Amino acid sequence: MITKCIFPVAGYGTRFLPATKIQPKEMLPIVNKPLVQYGVEEAMDAGLTDIGFVTGRGKRAIADHFDISYELEHQIKGTGKERYLDSIRNVIANCTFTYTRQQEMKGLGHAILTSRVMVGDQPFGVILADDLCVEQSEGVMAQMVKLYKQFRCSIVAIEEVPMADISRYGVIAGECIKDGLYRVTDMVEKPPADKAPSNLAIIGRYILTPDIFEILEKTPPGANGEIQITDALLQQAKDGCVMAYRYRGKRFDCGSVDGFVEATNFMYTEYYKHGKL
Ligand code: G1P
Repeated sequence: MITKCIFPVAGYGTRFLPATKIQPKEMLPIVNKPLVQYGVEEAMDAGLTDIGFVTGRGKRAIADHFDISYELEHQIKGTGKERYLDSIRNVIANCTFTYTRQQEMKGLGHAILTSRVMVGDQPFGVILADDLCVEQSEGVMAQMVKLYKQFRCSIVAIEEVPMADISRYGVIAGECIKDGLYRVTDMVEKPPADKAPSNLAIIGRYILTPDIFEILEKTPPGANGEIQITDALLQQAKDGCVMAYRYRGKRFDCGSVDGFVEATNFMYTEYYKHGKL
C-alpha cells in the first residue's frame, strides 16, 4: 500500500513575480482553488493521504491553507457561503500533513532526498504541483498506483512533447512493453534536442521505491549543477527496473504563464461553469 505523497514546494516561482514576491507560487489560484490543492486532491483520490511538503522560507501560507481557519469557520457557519469551504474541509478531514524545509535549492533530487525523514522505508508518490493534471474518472496518480501494484518498481509519468520543447524536461528511452508502457533503458535531464533519446518527456508525477534515497545520496550534481531525480532514476533502471507510463488525461504546465492561463480557461469553462469546482 502506498500512503505517502511528497510535494516539493521550495522553488521561488520567479516567472510569476511580482505575484510570488511574498506568496508561494503553489498558492496561486486556478479559478478559485490554489494550484497545490489540485495536486493534494489528486493524491488523496489515489489513496495517498499522508501528505509531505518539502518547503522553504516564505512558504508558510501552504501550511496555513491545509489547516482550519477558526475565524473563517466562525464567520461563515450557517450561511450560504459555507459550501465554498467544502473542498478544503474535505482535504483537511481526510489527509495528514507534514513539513520539512529544504534549506538550499540544490535541485529536485535534493528536495526528494530531503523528504526521506517523512517517507521512511516505503514506496511513495511525488507530485510537482506546477503540472496540473486533469482526468474526469481517474487521476494520474491513481492510474500510477494501479501500475505500481503490478510492477512494484519506480514509475514516471510521460507524454510526447514537440522536440522544440524537449530541453525543458527529463527524457526517457525505453522498451515498449505494451501500449503506453515502457521499461526505461535511458534517461537524460534537459537534453538539447539533438541529444534527446526520444520525444517522451517526464511530467511531474512519480512513484518511487525507497532505495532511491541511497542512490540520491551518491548522485553527483547533473544538469544545471543540481542533483537530479532523473539521474538517480537512471541508476535505478540500470540496477533493476523503472517503468514509464503514458498517462491518460490532460496536463497544463502551470510553471509557465502560458500554461497557467490555459489551465485557468480550461478549468473555468469545463469545471467552474458547471458547478464542478
Ligand atoms: C522537473 C524534472 C524534469 C521533469 C519536469 C516535469 O524539472 O527535473 O525531469 O521533466 O520537472 O515538470 P523542472 O520543471 O523542475 O525544471
